[in-house]
Amino acid sequence: MTKTTFEPITLRGITVRNRIWVPPMCQYSATGRDGKVTDWHIEHYGALARGGFGALIVEATAVVPEGRISPCCLGLWSDEQVAGLTKVVDRIHAHKATAGIQLAHAGRKGSVAPEWGFGTPGTSLDEENGGWATVAPSSIAAAGLKAPTEIDGAGIDAVVAAFAAAAVRAVEAGFDFVEIHSAHGYLLHEFCSPLSNQRTDSYGGSLGNRARLLLRVVDAVRKVVPEQMPVLVRLSGTEWVDGGFDIDEATTVTGWCAERGVDLADISSAGNVPAEIPIGPGYQVRLASTVRERTGVPVAAVGMIVNAFQTEQIIASGAADVVLVGRQALRDPAFALHAAVELRVGIDYVPAPYRRAFRQLPGA
Ligand SMILES: Cc1cc2nc3c(=O)[nH]c(=O)nc-3n(C[C@H](O)[C@H](O)[C@H](O)COP(=O)(O)O)c2cc1C
Repeated sequence: MTKTTFEPITLRGITVRNRIWVPPMCQYSATGRDGKVTDWHIEHYGALARGGFGALIVEATAVVPEGRISPCCLGLWSDEQVAGLTKVVDRIHAHKATAGIQLAHAGRKGSVAPEWGFGTPGTSLDEENGGWATVAPSSIAAAGLKAPTEIDGAGIDAVVAAFAAAAVRAVEAGFDFVEIHSAHGYLLHEFCSPLSNQRTDSYGGSLGNRARLLLRVVDAVRKVVPEQMPVLVRLSGTEWVDGGFDIDEATTVTGWCAERGVDLADISSAGNVPAEIPIGPGYQVRLASTVRERTGVPVAAVGMIVNAFQTEQIIASGAADVVLVGRQALRDPAFALHAAVELRVGIDYVPAPYRRAFRQLPGA
């Protein structure tokens, strides 16, 4: 049956009010450099939830301090970081939206200056400026960054345990679902890609070996979160270069993740190696739809989805089950309310004090 943007979607025990969600977007606003939420996070996520989105996926949140991208990224490696995230969740829930969180380890792309605030954005920070030594599957630097140390077996075990511990804290904070970050050239993606993983042990070589860490993380997270809680995985569906992690491998890995209890694959692309990317409206949708067609696993599509007609076309054509609206949501935090107007859909979650501005909507 044809689905529509404003139709709810159920994953395990949760039902999300619509299919326009916000993807994870780093705010570089943990300005105490302690991984903790600040007022900005509460304001930012509150505004998006008020703006009618179905679910918000809170930005990449590091499972260990050295797994942050920058010193100002959020973290969930300590119990002390839970209370701030609970405030974010409470704001999201106050607007009846669903709260997810992306759990992440930046691997060789960690220890960089944030996109704003201090230093030269995206360049490696040295230790005097708050940087740290990074780890990765192999000692191969990401373009323009310092070389990482090859992580050993004990280090790998610790990463798995850290994802599980962070997932437990995410549950304590009140999140409705978690997303495991295995895209954009961060640690789990680095393991999956033959371009950044040249290991000769059981974590390198075949796709099964390269995906082993991700699958261990999936198992460990699935084991500690409630049965009714969805687990999502974000993958780069291609690296847009020959010989890289590609759509065939992404499809296979999605299938393996689903067998282990992953409920939805969030299909993005790129980030691990320099590439020429054919950027344009909806340029990654085809990757998501391919994964969906081949595996039957629910997917989210993302990337330059900027208007309601695009979201409706993607959902109604069956290309994806969910659309993620990133930068357009920053430009227009009320994007989902505006989409309801454009699509002439009645919704009952226009905030009461704003109803006079949305009188065209049957529910408002
Ligand atoms: C400011 C900003 C921060 C981002 N941070 C993350 C992140 O934390 N995790 C992630 O997986 N992707 C991150 N992304 C990528 C977005 O989730 C999304 O995939 C990308 O922006 C493409 O979607 P869009 O064209 O709708 O913006 C970020 C993007 C932006 C613009």
